[in-house]
Amino acid sequence: MRYYISDLAQYVGQKVELKGWAYQTRSSGKVKFLELRDGTGIVPCIFFRGECADEALTTFEQLTQETSVKVVGTVRKHPKHEGVFEIGAETLEIIGQSPDYPITPKDHGTDFLMENRHLWLRSKRQHAILRVRAEIIGAIRDFFDGRGFTLTDAPIFTPSACEGTSNLFETQFFDEKMYLSQSGQLYMEATAAALGKVYCFGPTFRAEKSKTRRHLIEFWMVEPEVAFNDMYDNMELAEQFVEYIVQRTIKNRATELKALERDISKLEPIKGAFPRLHYREAAEMVKKENPDFIIGDDFGAPDETIISSKFEKPVFVHHYPAAVKAFYMKEDPKEPGYAMGCDLLATEGYGEMIGGGQREDNLEILERKIREHNLRDEDFKWYNDLRRYGSFPHSGFGLGLERTVAWICGLPHIRETIPFPRLYGRSYP
Ligand code: 4AD
Ligand code: MG
Repeated sequence: MRYYISDLAQYVGQKVELKGWAYQTRSSGKVKFLELRDGTGIVPCIFFRGECADEALTTFEQLTQETSVKVVGTVRKHPKHEGVFEIGAETLEIIGQSPDYPITPKDHGTDFLMENRHLWLRSKRQHAILRVRAEIIGAIRDFFDGRGFTLTDAPIFTPSACEGTSNLFETQFFDEKMYLSQSGQLYMEATAAALGKVYCFGPTFRAEKSKTRRHLIEFWMVEPEVAFNDMYDNMELAEQFVEYIVQRTIKNRATELKALERDISKLEPIKGAFPRLHYREAAEMVKKENPDFIIGDDFGAPDETIISSKFEKPVFVHHYPAAVKAFYMKEDPKEPGYAMGCDLLATEGYGEMIGGGQREDNLEILERKIREHNLRDEDFKWYNDLRRYGSFPHSGFGLGLERTVAWICGLPHIRETIPFPRLYGRSYP
């Protein structure tokens, strides 16, 4: 029988055996306290002279931070706090020593913590973030699985670029040159033609030589694609999706968000229809506060903040100039020069969390766009086939998991949103 700290409520008054790590220790007179952590929670184990074995008190003296141990004792309700438990400890055994654990309760610099990321994960703040991340992943899967979408994962090795050639990771595939996937979208367009409503969810790669608080080199993206959805249907799907993720996370992960000191009142209003701005409206908003902005350009991070700061909900910006968007975006026949792309900007300056839109479904236009973007026709033969055989209007989007985690947790930097971040300038551990 294995007992876990998270389940102690079931065992009040009973003797349990817990295995975990020494988070903190302290002594006062006849009593010694061990904060024991087992991954599911942290519980105080109280060693009282006379109530515990004498050896336990001697062993206790050898405990250092992160020593792994076995504790046997009785589960008691905390005398003051409802729903909090403690262990009236009887025995203590050391499983593994932990001399000179590098991360101490004092403040460490970020570089040091990143270098020790494998150990940093053992701290309370990281537990909270990773649990929120896991909740968001669960919400993502449940949302689509519960709406008749089929998970159709895309390959990581890809012969061609999806999001422009400037940030492609080149790799060797035996004798061929290949790339690490920037997005599964093009493959989702194929599976959407097969299964109607599909999504993929996996790691994607961008060789971006920039150090910002929003960019990872390797990040996870969920990409739904729906046959016969136009750009407006796409925005509706995206807003329902984001509402579901946010509301479920604040409900199920209230404890973790509290530990992260997240102001939940900023997340509660993330419901219902989100505001929608045409690129031109958004660009004028930006121009007022950033006179250097050139209308027609893509928005930089500070520009996105200007736009999103006007709203308490995330905001869609649609109809970007086709020139700043990817080759596959459908140009609006009613507004030549503008692409039917729609990005979703998060609240509180967290920037773009969703990029997507309606795809070009006309074969001739698509072939021309591929050439204009200096992409190789032969790489896109299969992709163009989707327009050759029963072409169909379709739309989809990609939501960046880590940006979503940073936003919901209220983190200043994306590096803590993934267990082992890959950043420009950091690939260890
Ligand atoms: O806007 P992006 O580049 O869109 C696509 O890749 C589309 N093909 C998706 C689709 O329509 N199926 O990326 C989508 C999202 C961004 O909005 C952002 O949340 C995230 O992916 N993202 C990154 N997250 C972390 N680090 C990076 N370097 C990111 N680049 C994009
Ligand atoms: Mg984008």
